[in-house]
Amino acid sequence: MEMPFGSISRRDFMKYCATTAAVLGLSELEFAAKVSEVLAAAPGKPPVIWLEGQDCAGCSISFAGSLYPSIASMLLQRVSLRYHEALMAASGHVAEAALHETIKKGGFVLCVEGSIPTADDRFCMVGGRPFRETLEEAAAKAAAIIAVGACATYGGIPAAGPTGAVGVNKIITDKPIINISTCPVHTEHLIGTILYYLTTGKVPPLDKQGRPKMYFGELIHDNCRRRSYFDNDTFLSDWNDPNQKNWCLYEKGCKGPDTYSDCPVRRWNDGLNFCIDCGAGCMGCAEPEFYAGMTPLYTAEGERSRNIMARKKAGLIPPLKEEEA
Ligand code: SF4
Ligand code: F3S
Repeated sequence: MEMPFGSISRRDFMKYCATTAAVLGLSELEFAAKVSEVLAAAPGKPPVIWLEGQDCAGCSISFAGSLYPSIASMLLQRVSLRYHEALMAASGHVAEAALHETIKKGGFVLCVEGSIPTADDRFCMVGGRPFRETLEEAAAKAAAIIAVGACATYGGIPAAGPTGAVGVNKIITDKPIINISTCPVHTEHLIGTILYYLTTGKVPPLDKQGRPKMYFGELIHDNCRRRSYFDNDTFLSDWNDPNQKNWCLYEKGCKGPDTYSDCPVRRWNDGLNFCIDCGAGCMGCAEPEFYAGMTPLYTAEGERSRNIMARKKAGLIPPLKEEEA
């Protein structure tokens, strides 16, 4: 059996995408065989187009700069990335021609990074035309559409500015959009979702916000190692006091009680760490209200934080039971 892992070890690959295998109800071996079978059987490599609207390219950087570059490369070798402004070698008219040729043929996976302005198309022009028009044209012929990162999913930081920025699902309303939020995107969420689609031909089960349940099914607060301190009203007030270093970060603006993502379990940078474990509260970057609705980020003075505390006092955020903690 040809394995799809290229230069990386099978063990590393399966560890990387273990959640996807579990969600598909497959063992690691079965999943490996399935990926291999699908990719080997494809008459050509599955085509992918990656468009960028109003963004900082942070999701592209997160993907390309993964601690496991060989895994991102493995995926890139197994699909045909026809257009990506930052990663493709071609530029100018040649790049635009590749884009339009691929769109014309249809049947590609469309990844979109960045938001779309609604106040005026001129806030985001790419290749001399409104980004919105290119997005609509590509979406009409795409086999699957993945909104990558906070900006493309719900508007993100640009939505707090004057451009009327929105996510893809506010522009493309006649097709399912898979939302992979967080700022930037988590590489494992993105690769796992693409592999899910390639191996099943289906969109993974999504939550009400259009996010794959396999990655966004649980509250950060319910998996946080500081949770017992929250339940006992023990909140860190001074980052410089070593005695407080493990206490709950609510007073430092943590929005974990309102944020769904598997960050505490999956963590970031190959499980090295994540926001809360390195001492910064969760800023809610996986949620549709991020950025504006989560500010101020590092104090509990905002409406969102006050609402969290009001619910706690009303018993609506009950302490975790011993066995859950
Ligand atoms: Fe953890 Fe934040 Fe919840 Fe505190 S408020 S327990 S730091 S998720
Ligand atoms: Fe975002 Fe997860 Fe940190 S949701 S703010 S990356 S804890």
